[in-house]
Amino acid sequence: MTDDERFSLIISVMGYMPGSSVGPRDARIPKDLKMSAGYTPGVPRLGIPAIQSSDASMGVTNPGYRPDDEGATAFPSLIALGSSFNPELVRKDGEAIAREARIRGFNVQLAGGCNLARDPRNGRNFEYFSEDPYLSAVLAAEQVNGIQSQGVVSTLKHYSLNCNETNRHWLDALIDPAAHREADLLTFQIAIERSQPGSIMSGYNKINGEHAGGNHHLLNEVLKDAWGYRGWVMSDWGATPQWEFALRGLDQESGVQADRMLWGKEPFTDDLRDAYAKGKFPKERLSDMVHRILRSLFAVGVDKWGPAPKVDMDQQNAIALEAARQGIVLLKNEAALPLATDKPLKIAVIGGYAQQGVISGTGSGAVMPVGGFAGVVKIGGAGVMGKHRNLHLFAPSPLDELKRALPKAQFDFDPGYTPAEAALTARRSDVVIAFGIRVEGEGFDSVDLSLPWGQDAVIDAVATANPNTVVVLETGNPVSMPWRDKVKAIVEAWYPGQAGARAIAEVLAGHVNPSGRLPVTFPESLGQTPRPELPCLGTPWGSAVTIEYNEGAEVGYRWFAQKRRKPLYAFGHGLSYTTFDYKDLEVEGGDTITASFTVTNTGQREGADVPQLYLTSAPGEERMRLLGFERVELGPGEMRRVSIKADPRLLARFDGKSGKWQVTDGVHRVALGKSAIDLSLASESHLQGRQFGP
Ligand code: BGC
Repeated sequence: MTDDERFSLIISVMGYMPGSSVGPRDARIPKDLKMSAGYTPGVPRLGIPAIQSSDASMGVTNPGYRPDDEGATAFPSLIALGSSFNPELVRKDGEAIAREARIRGFNVQLAGGCNLARDPRNGRNFEYFSEDPYLSAVLAAEQVNGIQSQGVVSTLKHYSLNCNETNRHWLDALIDPAAHREADLLTFQIAIERSQPGSIMSGYNKINGEHAGGNHHLLNEVLKDAWGYRGWVMSDWGATPQWEFALRGLDQESGVQADRMLWGKEPFTDDLRDAYAKGKFPKERLSDMVHRILRSLFAVGVDKWGPAPKVDMDQQNAIALEAARQGIVLLKNEAALPLATDKPLKIAVIGGYAQQGVISGTGSGAVMPVGGFAGVVKIGGAGVMGKHRNLHLFAPSPLDELKRALPKAQFDFDPGYTPAEAALTARRSDVVIAFGIRVEGEGFDSVDLSLPWGQDAVIDAVATANPNTVVVLETGNPVSMPWRDKVKAIVEAWYPGQAGARAIAEVLAGHVNPSGRLPVTFPESLGQTPRPELPCLGTPWGSAVTIEYNEGAEVGYRWFAQKRRKPLYAFGHGLSYTTFDYKDLEVEGGDTITASFTVTNTGQREGADVPQLYLTSAPGEERMRLLGFERVELGPGEMRRVSIKADPRLLARFDGKSGKWQVTDGVHRVALGKSAIDLSLASESHLQGRQFGP
């Protein structure tokens, strides 16, 4: 291989450059090629295919970089998949996404978003699975496994601590390094072990003062040396300000025009070649970068593609529908749901563009469905992502799907334009279904937990006018719900994808028994969270900001347990139309803890439960850790014995000095429950103290 060929492989060029003066099509992209998020030329004489990458975790997309985008199946957001607690479902979702990537010629899917939801204001939490390292790791691994099983490389992203969006290019995320290993990094570590992703995408932010893409400790010492990762590290788009990142572990500069726009240069082209010529950049490292890229392409089989298998789009939609169903979480239900299907109910549907569609999050991961959006409302905002910040609607509408699911009912629709007007419609109805939506997305953090556009006031007014109110939320994060005591039922549907309206209607009508569980804690208020104030909010685009993740490894429910705070809705919480009971918990010790128990469906209809096993204390400290979970589908009266074996790292603390995991000698208590605060059975086991790595 020549040096020119080597250098050509370590950058990618993006299709269309949003908001730049570079022009719509980069001359380096062959004229007959489809636009992509990142294009890297192949080396045909050596059988090396060109790399064509596509966003992201919720389907094949990036309309921003691909003006020729024809749409694809819009799968539910990752936080909805997180709510399914169902690795098998997430694997199917990954397979389905990759099938569509293949027919469009994309051999790298920029999926596997697995940052921890540390802050409920983070605009991108909808692109991540959960606040828990183990749950996130298991699900992210299955998305990667699903994608790579189809011969498409998947990333895991954004390595690491890219947990807020405000000024993300200039954000310095501070954390205690050992706590980082126990939380965010453990997520990547377990996900990598279970799925061998071809590539890891680094984040925009700095971690403890060093940019993620040039972080020697995280890339070289942890990822490549301690964990032995063999794939390649690509930067995020516009996250490579200097060529020296190549010395600190970065293998490929992505979307080089974004670096030109932000930092005035493409460091891995001219600067890196210059450093090479002057002997400042060693050949071994250049070879290593190329070797890592090629190794992954070959390991996943990108070089062996035959003709793309045919894709049945109805089947793809069926997967999106099943994922949406399992992602819906019933938060509250005072006997209001399911709605009676045999009565001529007068139902008022209010707000949330429910006459038009369901909403999605925004940014590079937002998928345009085949046939286009049912509606687009421009929102706008600061920074490069401002022009992509739109309210996108997917057909069919919840209103139409509710009419189908409840054929005997009579429907009235009110847009929720004013509280008073909405109350008039609510008053003359038997049941009110109020929709509360919040568009969240890349490049933006929310300021608070309220619903925008006065929707909290509308919901309050309709619930006052008619207490028989059911609220359906389409949000990417917890919201505060100041009206929560006034309504009878609350359903969190997240951004449920193109089949979401049908899934919502099926749950409300009782055709589907809700089984989603919260993958994030819903706080009563921001005052309960580690950062009641987000220090960077309100700072202008381009200013340097620092966020201290002072909760360390005690993210989400762990923080609430440690501080003895009672959340509004706990991690793991989710109601069903049936009931479940746990008994006969048996716990065995040894190198780790293995727990077995019996789950029984004690209700009248079939449903799925997600029993959760937690560590509640270790010697000398209370310490809450999700050790395992299992989604169990049971018919009425049916029971099943379940066994969960904990990953020993979840029972240990990471010791920064030795670089090893440390299990403390003594009694470890565990509990089995329906959520992080609803623990019904407890037991304990004595574990011997030991150290292990990596
Ligand atoms: C996002 C990545 C995405 C990339 C390419 C960036 O703005 O942070 O998640 O994969 O763009 O579109």
